Amino acid sequence: MVKKNTCVFISGQGSNLKNLILYSRDNNFPIKICLVISSNKKAKGLTYAKRFNIPYIYIDTQRQNYENKILFNLRKYKISFICLAGYMKIISSNILRNYKKKVINIHPSLLPKFKGLNTYSRMLKNNEKKAGCTVHFVDEKLDNGIIIVQKSFFINNNDDEINLKSQTQKLEKKAYPQAIIQIFRNY
Ligand code: GRF
Repeated sequence: MVKKNTCVFISGQGSNLKNLILYSRDNNFPIKICLVISSNKKAKGLTYAKRFNIPYIYIDTQRQNYENKILFNLRKYKISFICLAGYMKIISSNILRNYKKKVINIHPSLLPKFKGLNTYSRMLKNNEKKAGCTVHFVDEKLDNGIIIVQKSFFINNNDDEINLKSQTQKLEKKAYPQAIIQIFRNY
């Protein structure tokens, strides 16, 4: 199988990055992670790029034209697929134009519910019955594109933000690889 050259964008912990790196070591998994881009110089996720010898770049998103630097590097590493994993910036329409239906994201709620930040506290406040995660294609609007995979669980009365997060993140580790396999199944 010819693996798709993939870039993972991160800003923080990188637990999804680590999970995808481990999956991608399997010959039958459709992507090869060739580049990691971080908007945070101190992101813990960068330690996984280092540990697994994957090229990584810090992008200072305060700088003008930082998107050009991203595009330059995506071309340099012949990237054909992009996974956002805890990336805290909006992907510009310029990049999306170049990577139409090739950018996916993971979000810690059952979209279209709870787009944006602070999903767990908003769910609890709203007395939601279910929580979960969503892998979706990225379009120009925040947390909006076509849904690929969704996984859910029931919220208990005694659940707090901390254990909602840990249950959600456990499901994310199954949902993200499953979505990638699903996308490339027919290629
Ligand atoms: C995940 O919960 C993801 O859904 C959200 O940000 C978090 C990133 O976690 N977009 P990590 O950096 O992959 O550990």
